[in-house]
Amino acid sequence: MPYATEENLTELALKQWEACHSPRLREIMQSLVKHVHGFVREVDLTQQEWLAAMDWLAKTGKLCSEKRHEFILFSDVLGVSMLVDAINHRLPSGATPSTVMGPFHIEGSPEMPMGANMAEGLGGETCFLVGTVRDLAGKPIAGAKLDIWQADADGMYESQLGSEEPLLRAIFETGTDGKYVIRTIAPPGYSIPMDGTVGDLLRKTDISHFRPAHIHFLIQAPGYETLITHLFKKDGKYIDCDVVFGVKDKLIAEFKKMPAGKTPTGEISETPFLVVNYDFALSPAK
Ligand code: BEZ
Ligand code: FE
Repeated sequence: MPYATEENLTELALKQWEACHSPRLREIMQSLVKHVHGFVREVDLTQQEWLAAMDWLAKTGKLCSEKRHEFILFSDVLGVSMLVDAINHRLPSGATPSTVMGPFHIEGSPEMPMGANMAEGLGGETCFLVGTVRDLAGKPIAGAKLDIWQADADGMYESQLGSEEPLLRAIFETGTDGKYVIRTIAPPGYSIPMDGTVGDLLRKTDISHFRPAHIHFLIQAPGYETLITHLFKKDGKYIDCDVVFGVKDKLIAEFKKMPAGKTPTGEISETPFLVVNYDFALSPAK
């Protein structure tokens, strides 16, 4: 092997990765070498900048735990998470689009019957989520599981609050009519976690660190592609500047203000409430 020079280093590193056992990993690593070398050459990276980057990455790794993944947050604000999502979900027209998963989903949410209140005892504007899970032909899907999670009225998720009990998350299953009716509260727009290395980086910019108001859905049904998505509040603050690029036109839903009276669950509300009407369309499993 020839010794390294500024000119031949990229070629040498690419050659070194020829020894990778898996063809796919080889492809990925060689492309990474090519692009990282290109980047270092393009910006003429100084030794101090390189060390600052290494320290930033090490600090980011130390922040990661079962409850927090700062590297995913970094990927989110770079638009990489949404790019990977787009490449992997080229869905047929008519299917509900997917969007970023985010770091706040928790496995094993409590199963609740249709019509249940997943915000029992919590303050906030009462909101009903109503609709049908359908296939691409419009046929209702029975047995679809809707795993739903969201922030509270202050824009905080369960894992941020350190709650012992499941908070603002639940799983609902559709019956033969494919319908869902869920009672909850309307979440506000909120800031992404700014107390870590991603926050340190964003504070060096004028980038808005907020996400528009939304509710997360993970929908699974046998024979269909799993859908990970959000419903965004129409006309909500930050809808045009989501820091993680998650907003899609078809995911914006009206949170319609209703006067006091009969709610979608048949109860009578003494106060006004919100109703979100939205039908999800799942594409068939590949
Ligand atoms: C979320 O919507 O929960 C989220 C997504 C990406 C980054 C931070 C939060
Ligand atoms: Fe969220």
